[in-house]
Amino acid sequence: MAFQHAFTISVLILLSLALTCLGQDFIQISSPTNGQTISSKTRLDISYTIIGAQTMSPPPANASYPSTMTAQFQWLQKGTEGNPLSLSALGGLDTHHYVAGIQNKGYTSSWNVPNCHFFSRYNPSNYDFSLVFTPVYSDATAPSQQQPIKIDLNVQVNNGTYPKC
Ligand SMILES: *[C@@H]1O[C@H](CO)[C@@H](O)[C@H](O)[C@H]1NC(C)=O
Ligand SMILES: *[C@@H]1O[C@H](CO)[C@@H](O)[C@H](O)[C@H]1NC(C)=O
Repeated sequence: MAFQHAFTISVLILLSLALTCLGQDFIQISSPTNGQTISSKTRLDISYTIIGAQTMSPPPANASYPSTMTAQFQWLQKGTEGNPLSLSALGGLDTHHYVAGIQNKGYTSSWNVPNCHFFSRYNPSNYDFSLVFTPVYSDATAPSQQQPIKIDLNVQVNNGTYPKC
């Protein structure tokens, strides 16, 4: 009876460990932030952190860091659902973690926001925009892969000199 009880408890502990490992997010995007306003034809600062597994409490038993990350700029006509249009904004973003994951590691990058021609074709009054950061894993079967991170953006178009953008 006591043995069975201990067994049940170990199973429960293992289960909860497995569940905690599932949603392990090692990437945090700090810029841009959700709902941020970006301006056409400007350089958008991007910054993100690769969380060191050993800074987590408790540290995950089996950390699988992404090998790289991509960013897609997406736009979808307001009031519609389905597949948004997209363009590749950035590829090969560095996701190396700090040695042995004993501390976090920060990275910066930047992206050139499209100009007023683009936003005249896809006018922000008709379209919703976002940047989607997708962690890429060298081992496609790696456990606890982080889902893409979607950041919604408002776009302000500098259209005063149209058609010169
Ligand atoms: C910019 O101005 C042009 C000419 O007035 C107009 O056709 C276009 O829709 C404008 N674009 C935006 C994003 O407002
Ligand atoms: C740890 O990850 C490796 C490689 O992704 C996998 O083969 C292994 O089964 C995992 N171990 C545990 C205990 O989850």
